Amino acid sequence: MSGFDFSGRDSFGSRLGVVAAAAGSAVGLGNIWRFPYILGENGGGAFLIIYLVIMFAIGIPVMMSELVIGRRSQRNPVGAFRVLAPGKPWYLVGMMGIISAFMILAFYTAVAGWTLEYLYQTLTGGFSGKNSTELTAMFDSFRSESLRPALWFSVFMIATSAIVLGGVRKGIEKSTKIMMPLLFILLLVMCIKSLTLPGAGKGLEFLFKPDFSKITGTTVLMALGQVFFSLSIGMGTIITYGSYIQKDNNLAGTSVQVSLIDTAVAVLAGIAIFPAVFAFGISPSSGEALTFIVLPGIFQQMPGGMIFAFMFFLLLALAALTSTISVLEVIVAYFSEQLGLTRRKAIILATISMFVLGITASLSLGLTGRVKLFGLNTFDLFNTTTANILLPLGGLLIVIFLGWFFPGKDVKDELTNAGSLKARYYSLYRFIVRYVAPIAITIVFLNGIGLLKI
Ligand code: TRP
Repeated sequence: MSGFDFSGRDSFGSRLGVVAAAAGSAVGLGNIWRFPYILGENGGGAFLIIYLVIMFAIGIPVMMSELVIGRRSQRNPVGAFRVLAPGKPWYLVGMMGIISAFMILAFYTAVAGWTLEYLYQTLTGGFSGKNSTELTAMFDSFRSESLRPALWFSVFMIATSAIVLGGVRKGIEKSTKIMMPLLFILLLVMCIKSLTLPGAGKGLEFLFKPDFSKITGTTVLMALGQVFFSLSIGMGTIITYGSYIQKDNNLAGTSVQVSLIDTAVAVLAGIAIFPAVFAFGISPSSGEALTFIVLPGIFQQMPGGMIFAFMFFLLLALAALTSTISVLEVIVAYFSEQLGLTRRKAIILATISMFVLGITASLSLGLTGRVKLFGLNTFDLFNTTTANILLPLGGLLIVIFLGWFFPGKDVKDELTNAGSLKARYYSLYRFIVRYVAPIAITIVFLNGIGLLKI
């Protein structure tokens, strides 16, 4: 058996298109908004090292595994498990992914909406001349408003749906190839500016000098969650994209490239942000607000800063868009392939459900801020539960499935493109998927939630 029929399914055109689309999914607010604030809250340099170790030891193998499942089955995450393990409950892993997709879209699109607000503020001069205290106040007051965040959320959601309606290849592939390199260059410029601010050295030290006394079980779980979130793994996004990848693509190569790009963007974001954090006297553990306070501060120090700010928030919004479309695509592929809806109907249904859920998350600091579950508002609940619980659990089940319940020769067949590639890494990969990843994810998870003490 060499996989399934391609006929009638949309697929990515070129090799670069594959990497661009997957990297487009991976690179986004996770790198520029979430990574810096999570790192800031979890002790800096030591967190970075743990993050990098997990990225290479677990992140890349999980991404490869998702690509294998997707390309082999030619299905959405639920369909994939139904095809590869007929009559078994593995499809529930896919269902969990669909639930995660809704939760991620709900809060992620809200943050993407903030980038639109900041784009708007750049154009109207809203943050010019403000110091970091004023910028903090501005962020807080925007977030606690009811209407504006919900409005920007809606704009972003509609843009996402419109692109997904345009089809996989046309919509996703084209835009990413131009935008990503631009975002990268702009980040480099910001790094240079940030590094030349007075007091920048402290920020570099915070980011790169590990202090392992700050590491706890929770920290490691946060790093694991951030790796999964940043690589878009653990919920079937990569399974879905894998199902659109052609048979001659080297899945391991794609995984490594995408992960390297993703990590580079996150580290660059760190280098842009932390020197400025210390130069401006902001606390590195300012949480969700961090990126949105620090970046406007940097732009104000740059000649022509508002032009840079405009370009940056635009590119950030677009990077977020290539991520939201990848999450929506999972839901749409599921609705259309498993429930038999047309893609159009699937998109409409998904969008309407998202509005209900997303507006709740978007309003959760304003109007509905008092509604709390486990002490978290809807936004934090979605943010934390997906990254720290659902994605690692999804990843764990994916590697267990591929390592123990799926014929090894089929996995090898998929990674070597039916024998035409050497895949010298195969035994290492197999070892990680069968032993290292399942054991490590379990330990980190149990230790992180306090059920195990090491
Ligand atoms: N990885 C994206 C980012 O870093 C967000 C994202 C897209 C995602 N698809 C996902 C996160 C699937 C988790 C799962 O911005």
